[in-house]
Amino acid sequence: MPVTTPPQTYRVKSFGCQMNVYDGERMAELLAERGMSAAGEGEDADLVVLNTCHIREKAAEKVYSDIGRLVKAGGDKAPLIAVAGCVAQAEGEEIMARAPAVSVVVGPQAYHRLPEMIAEAMQGRRSTDTEMPADAKFAALPARRRVGPSAFLTVQEGCDKFCTYCVVPYTRGAEISRPFKVLLSEAEALVEAGAREITLLGQNVNAWSGADVRGRALGLDGLIEELAKLPDLLRIRYTTSHPNDVTEGLIEAHAAVPKLMPFLHLPVQSGSNRVLKAMNRSHSAESYLALLERFRAARPDIALSGDFIVGFPGETDAEFEETLSLVAATGYAQAYSFKYSPRPGTPAADMDGQVPAEVMDERLQRLQAALNRDQLAFNQASLGKRCDVLVERRGKKPGQWLGKSPWLQSVHFTGDAAIGDIVELRLESAGPNSLSGVRAV
Ligand code: SAH
Ligand code: SF4
Ligand code: F3S
Repeated sequence: MPVTTPPQTYRVKSFGCQMNVYDGERMAELLAERGMSAAGEGEDADLVVLNTCHIREKAAEKVYSDIGRLVKAGGDKAPLIAVAGCVAQAEGEEIMARAPAVSVVVGPQAYHRLPEMIAEAMQGRRSTDTEMPADAKFAALPARRRVGPSAFLTVQEGCDKFCTYCVVPYTRGAEISRPFKVLLSEAEALVEAGAREITLLGQNVNAWSGADVRGRALGLDGLIEELAKLPDLLRIRYTTSHPNDVTEGLIEAHAAVPKLMPFLHLPVQSGSNRVLKAMNRSHSAESYLALLERFRAARPDIALSGDFIVGFPGETDAEFEETLSLVAATGYAQAYSFKYSPRPGTPAADMDGQVPAEVMDERLQRLQAALNRDQLAFNQASLGKRCDVLVERRGKKPGQWLGKSPWLQSVHFTGDAAIGDIVELRLESAGPNSLSGVRAV
């Protein structure tokens, strides 16, 4: 759609994983650097960037309903629309054909070009860039200046694992690690800008590898140890890790590095070895549980999290029961669970034995009931304990604050505090999704 005046305000809407949230922040910084400002809450923006997710069908379809809504609400003053993220990468041409209101389509490895693509759109030229150059993007992004107390830092991108259900290897490309030096300076900038906690991100974050300034080879554990030396950085987390890339060093880091928080997100997907094989997961239920034991031995209070898919093609009732047994054996502090969604172009989409929707619904309900039970139990087990909470924002009530425990639980409390403080609380009540505490004296 031809636009005559350059956009003054922008809104970036990110869907999907934390890496998309990180990318969304970087795109916003890029637009701000070009003199645009973020549209206020409830205000119409001149430019809307839909930073999309392709992981399941529902997520991918959302982009078209969002575009429709923007066009309808805007009338003849509809905003300039840019589609970024994994749907842009996977369906760029289709978006251009299906949605004439979209001016820019830009993939996750090309978004540093957003400003120039917007300038082209101003000339009436719609454009698509879904190239995947290895490291051009990060070098072209502006320095980090303003962040909250808990910040994301993408250290690794892409995936070489090719699980048979998953689009990520296609939308994000091959595994790459950002160099240690640039990560150290980005971490320093984040801390300088106010971050007290950094979560290291990657589609397979523990596949990160690099070398320190003296050329010594480092894995993710080495990176964590180096970042822990930044005095004002108080907490380090990482996500998402893959069972096959877990090293002894990473497990030991949970014992050796006090700033590394006692939390592990390690997706397993299924408790059935036949299903895991069909998923191309290359770990078994037993090898996964054995890994968890090693983490627990290093850090006995570690909180465990995972991802699950129910209704993978051919999954029988008995195989689903094996997933429930694995859940019962683990006692997750939290977890994500999804109905299998066939994705175009992935091997599993063409497999026999697609599971009917109502069977998936029933399995998901049962799995989520089990996971919710364990999450509540985990939270209740924290009652009466003292814990350090990183204050992230104000709560809804006057004087109330919200923060995170070391085990990534949301905790609220009232009293004197400021964003970015670490306060010691005694935990007094626990619900399924949050806890409340009082200042410990
Ligand atoms: N790299 C991470 C996960 C990335 S995607 C890992 O392997 O652990 C996040 C989660 O989405 C996956 O762990 C999986 O549980 C889920 N997922 C991926 N593809 C899916 C599909 N086609 N249908 C349903 N859930 C899916
Ligand atoms: Fe997808 Fe598997 Fe790669 Fe995770 S490891 S991103 S689930 S292909
Ligand atoms: Fe979605 Fe892409 Fe992340 S598909 S989950 S936004 S890597």
